Amino acid sequence: MSMRSIAYATAACLFVVSLATKSDQLIRGRELHDNGCVGCHGSDMYLGEQRGHNPYYTVRLEVKRWSEYIGLEWDDAAIDAVTAYLETTYYRCGEARC
Ligand code: HEC
Repeated sequence: MSMRSIAYATAACLFVVSLATKSDQLIRGRELHDNGCVGCHGSDMYLGEQRGHNPYYTVRLEVKRWSEYIGLEWDDAAIDAVTAYLETTYYRCGEARC
């Protein structure tokens, strides 16, 4: 096997691993969200309305703010997971911060 094909094989493996990690994160984010965040509003809240009023708005900031408000004591990984879930499912941000 040439160095080049080893490099391609390695890159392909890393890609698959990062996809798996990504979807684990989304599953965890969904679970955390559905257990902690459905008391007051449904997904119709996730339209970015707040964004127009607040130049510092990010989905992550909202997740952090609300999880603190209800006293969930989420760590960074949990906040990241729920943010990733909301961004992917509702805000459809792609790679851009929103
Ligand atoms: C106590 C009621 C309540 C709970 C519980 C709650 N929210 Fe909210 N949320 C609101 C209200 C009211 C707004 C809109 C007004 C505002 O942002 O101040 C809002 C707005 C948001 C927004 C901004 C929507 C947008 O894009 O304009 C996000 C994101 C959000 N909530 C996520 C969450 C998450 C994640 C949780 C769980 C950690 C959660 N909320 C739990 C009441 C709640």
